[in-house]
Amino acid sequence: MQLKTTTFHYILLLLSALPLIKTTSTSPEKQAESLIKWKDDLSSSSWPPSLLNSWSLTNLNSLCNWTAIACTKTNTVSKIDLSNMQITGTLALFDFSLFPNLTHFNLSGNYFRGPIPSAIGNLSRLTTLDLSGNKFIEESQNQFSGPIPPSIGQLRELQYLDLSANSLNSSIPSELGLCTNLTHLSLSSNNLNGELPLSLSNLKSLVQLDLHNNRFIGQILPSLVSNWTELVSLNLQQNNFGGTISAEIGLLTQLQYLRLYSNEFSGEIPQSLGNLSKLHVLYLFDNHLTGEIPQSLGKLTQLQLLDLSNNHLTGEIPQSLGKLTQLLGLYLKHNHLTGEIPQSLGNLSGLWRLYLSANNFTGVIPRISGLTGLFDLDLSSNSLSGAIPSELRMLTRLQYFNASHNNLSGEIPSALDHMFTLSSYDFSYNKLTGPLPTSGIFNNAPKSAFVGNHGLRSHAEGPTESKSSSTKSKSANKNMVSVFLFSFLGFATVAIAIAFFLMFHKRSKIRPQVIKTSQNFEDYESMILQEEVKFTFREVVKAMDDFHEKHYIGRGGFGRVYKAELESGQVVAVKRLNTNDSNDIPAINLQSFENEIRTLTTIRHRNIIRLYGFSSRRGCIFLLYEYLQRGSLGKALYGVEGATELGWPTRDFEPRLSDFGTARLLSIDSSNWTNIVGSLGYMAPGDR
Ligand SMILES: *[C@@H]1O[C@H](CO)[C@@H](O)[C@H](O)[C@H]1NC(C)=O
Ligand SMILES: *[C@@H]1O[C@H](CO)[C@@H](O)[C@H](O)[C@H]1NC(C)=O
Ligand SMILES: *[C@@H]1O[C@H](CO)[C@@H](O)[C@H](O)[C@H]1NC(C)=O
Ligand SMILES: *[C@@H]1O[C@H](CO)[C@@H](O)[C@H](O)[C@H]1NC(C)=O
Repeated sequence: MQLKTTTFHYILLLLSALPLIKTTSTSPEKQAESLIKWKDDLSSSSWPPSLLNSWSLTNLNSLCNWTAIACTKTNTVSKIDLSNMQITGTLALFDFSLFPNLTHFNLSGNYFRGPIPSAIGNLSRLTTLDLSGNKFIEESQNQFSGPIPPSIGQLRELQYLDLSANSLNSSIPSELGLCTNLTHLSLSSNNLNGELPLSLSNLKSLVQLDLHNNRFIGQILPSLVSNWTELVSLNLQQNNFGGTISAEIGLLTQLQYLRLYSNEFSGEIPQSLGNLSKLHVLYLFDNHLTGEIPQSLGKLTQLQLLDLSNNHLTGEIPQSLGKLTQLLGLYLKHNHLTGEIPQSLGNLSGLWRLYLSANNFTGVIPRISGLTGLFDLDLSSNSLSGAIPSELRMLTRLQYFNASHNNLSGEIPSALDHMFTLSSYDFSYNKLTGPLPTSGIFNNAPKSAFVGNHGLRSHAEGPTESKSSSTKSKSANKNMVSVFLFSFLGFATVAIAIAFFLMFHKRSKIRPQVIKTSQNFEDYESMILQEEVKFTFREVVKAMDDFHEKHYIGRGGFGRVYKAELESGQVVAVKRLNTNDSNDIPAINLQSFENEIRTLTTIRHRNIIRLYGFSSRRGCIFLLYEYLQRGSLGKALYGVEGATELGWPTRDFEPRLSDFGTARLLSIDSSNWTNIVGSLGYMAPGDR
């Protein structure tokens, strides 16, 4: 008996040793040689030559000390991390069969291209596979292309899989459902298509699922959703998913982030969403949703961002939304909502942005004095009546107020004169009466802010006279500049500038001013500022003591960022682009860049840092942005989630859009540009 057991043990041992013998046939030397072979096929233009110097034949024996390599206790490679090394290359010469013990494989943020070989299925111990593009720029950097290999299903240990921002163009292989240990799965920003395989319902450990910005179709079936009960973040936005949002989504009670925007979802918003009591972000905008806003949303007391804009929602705003006291942004614009704006919204004292435009709201503007945190208030294009409440002055942070296209009557309260934070306002197309306000913030107000109010009359003689004369002197200045330009640059340049101006004039309400433009980059000097901006570039430079180091606050994707505190108290972030890079920009690209800047200066959207303007001189390019306190950007964009991810300003204006112009400017291959334009999907539907 005793003997038998021992023999049995031996046999067991032998059996279990067999595969070991097979795998241990890969020696560290073999691995090292294979890595060198792969390295020789890689390249990098701006790569510090020393970076992978340790990967060399003379250094064969210290494999485990090589850059970017980590080993197991048995001195074989367990981790390869080449992230963000600006490497160009492929996986063609990577011998997957030699690295059975690899647990981490990270090539993110490089310029790898070509297919993902199916031999990747050999890395059976892999727990982390990151082949994603550069996360900090909204443009795919990696160009892994072709299909997701079905062999990925053999990576049964995989917990983290990120293939985002590539050019993968298959459907999701159903084999992916075999990777049941997956907790993080991102396939975003590819060209993936088809329906989600039902096998994904096996991924019961998923905490984060990000499929956004692809071409997926079909319904999110109840059987899929109901298994993902560990999900904290579900990002399906910017696809072509359709059908109704299944009520089973209410089972995902751990969810904090739910983004389904920019799809083809129809039907009603399920009541069951009210069960997602941990939700921070709920983005359903830009779909075809109908019916009423469920009362149950009032139970989402952790909610910070709620955007239901650009749907076909009807009925009234539920009073219950007044309970969402953590809310920073409430966006309901472009729907068919009716009734009065509920008083209960006045409880939302932390709210930053309230967008109710383009609905059928009636009644008066509530005395919204409780909304003391508000930066933006857009009530335009409704049927609101009654007077503009003077309580508005209690909103001491308000920067943007749009009441245009309503039936508001009475006078513009003089209490508003001293709301010095208010940099943009619009009272046009109402039934307002009384004198045109001219003092305080309304000094030199653009006429367009008041047009369409037949009862508003200019002041007699005095104030109007001085106002119009100041406008005159302004335009006289402009004329002088034109004359100067005319003689200096010749007719052609002015013609171009005028053409630009006219083109722009037609296209947008906020007209940036083009001061000067030329075809040659070195001579090139140009300035575009939002019309509402009340400072000059010279003032900004002065405030920074001509880019003194003490105003330097960090590095962004493409250059250094400075903070300028203007005399008016306004704070502006200035990004100076790397001159070396920008010197290479052909003038023709600059023109496209300018066009883009023009577009960006007219955009107002929560996901876009306000771009005040752009200036270029002596071969340098400067971008002027709204300054956000450290951390507040991430919070504004993503709530808590992003705040840690993107500490500002080291990673700078999130990538997502504020760098989008820059990325485009500096991209060498101009054929990429249209891709980036595609990323404008982030724009609010109403702003398009
Ligand atoms: C893999 O790891 C095991 C122990 O974890 C070790 O015995 C074996 O030699 C390693 N094989 C290779 C090829 O790295
Ligand atoms: C593993 O590698 C071997 C040798 O390169 C190859 O023949 C095999 O197909 C690979 N396995 C998978 C699953 O790709
Ligand atoms: C997918 O991409 C690869 C490589 O770019 C290409 O050869 C192939 O035709 C594409 N397939 C489809 C279906 O678009
Ligand atoms: C919210 O507002 C309503 C109406 O103004 C008020 O009755 C209620 O007490 C407020 N507080 C909460 C927590 O709802």
